[in-house]
Amino acid sequence: MARPTKALISKSALLHNYNVAQQLAPNSNNVAIIKANAYGHGAVAVAQILEPVVQAFGVACIEEALELRVAGINKPILLLEGFFSKEEVAIAAKMNFWTMLDNQRQLDWILTAQCSKPLKVWLKVDTGMHRLGVQPEQVNDFYQQLLASDNVDNDIILTTHFASADEGNNPSTETQITLFNQLTATLRTSLASDTLVSTSMANSAGILDWPKAHRDWNRPGFMLYGNSPLDRVTDNGLQLKPVMTLKSEVISLREVKSGQKVGYGSNWTAARDSQIATVAIGYGDGYPRIAKNGTPTLVNGVIAPLAGRVSMDMITIDVTDIADVSIGDEVILWGAELPVNDVALHASTIGYEALTRMPLRTKRIIVD
Ligand SMILES: Cc1ncc(COP(=O)(O)O)c(C=O)c1O
Repeated sequence: MARPTKALISKSALLHNYNVAQQLAPNSNNVAIIKANAYGHGAVAVAQILEPVVQAFGVACIEEALELRVAGINKPILLLEGFFSKEEVAIAAKMNFWTMLDNQRQLDWILTAQCSKPLKVWLKVDTGMHRLGVQPEQVNDFYQQLLASDNVDNDIILTTHFASADEGNNPSTETQITLFNQLTATLRTSLASDTLVSTSMANSAGILDWPKAHRDWNRPGFMLYGNSPLDRVTDNGLQLKPVMTLKSEVISLREVKSGQKVGYGSNWTAARDSQIATVAIGYGDGYPRIAKNGTPTLVNGVIAPLAGRVSMDMITIDVTDIADVSIGDEVILWGAELPVNDVALHASTIGYEALTRMPLRTKRIIVD
């Protein structure tokens, strides 16, 4: 018998969520964002499942893209942070990697590299997030230089990224959309009428909540894994199905008397005579160490609160109110019945981080 700690990855939920993205924006193509090991789910496995349906993949850097090619993934792969050295330009052109372009240094590398094939470039403009992208007034000049280069495919995509599309009432998203529309219109009037200017704005929040941000290309990430990034419950968000179920088992049970303390630092004290179950999962398996006493887990379908500090390989939970708990019973840390976003809140973080921190040690098992 192996240690029972595992992350089940539901193939059908992943495909379902992709379908939701497609149905919400039926006229858009999608770049499925699978950086950081597909937000902890396993990039190669996720890419293999999505490859038949998606138009392209998005990763942070060329190392992540190469890992996918080596594993036999053939669809285009967009490098979201673009190039980190000039050598990467020729490799990308050869391997059919697409690149985001953020700055003058990257432009110079692209224009002066020796490419065997033209490279597909996404020119990123900073419309208000102030993290990446050329300034609005640089767009026309950058675009014209790219268009004139034999190293660059003529279908250059103008793109931007939202700062706060997850917040329904934040006016900055409208401001970003308006500016992006103006820049696109100005660019189009400055180019020959037959020049195609494809565009891309929406991440998951944009797809779920900002239909006016849907463009030729959308870039769904977090929603593919079945959780909503939005700051409130919405019908669209409710359509998503969590892909990862993180689970383990009870490996020890004990009675503690009222007043006795549990775990490292003795930071949980029994307020009554209690039954404590020890579960084979800890921060070494991706369960957040910072999770507070009271963080929910599920034992036999019933909530059991965390009782005591998270150890590297174990947690302790209060099962006093759950009938007939035995060693070997299944414990769910997050999944369809216990959203990772809820657990993350108890650990002062967000679902994105909790999922992405899943270490290699935790076995991913593809189901259904
Ligand atoms: C440029 C870009 N597009 C799309 C995404 C996907 O965002 P989300 O996971 O919120 O859908 C990211 C993620 O950080 C990103 O950096």
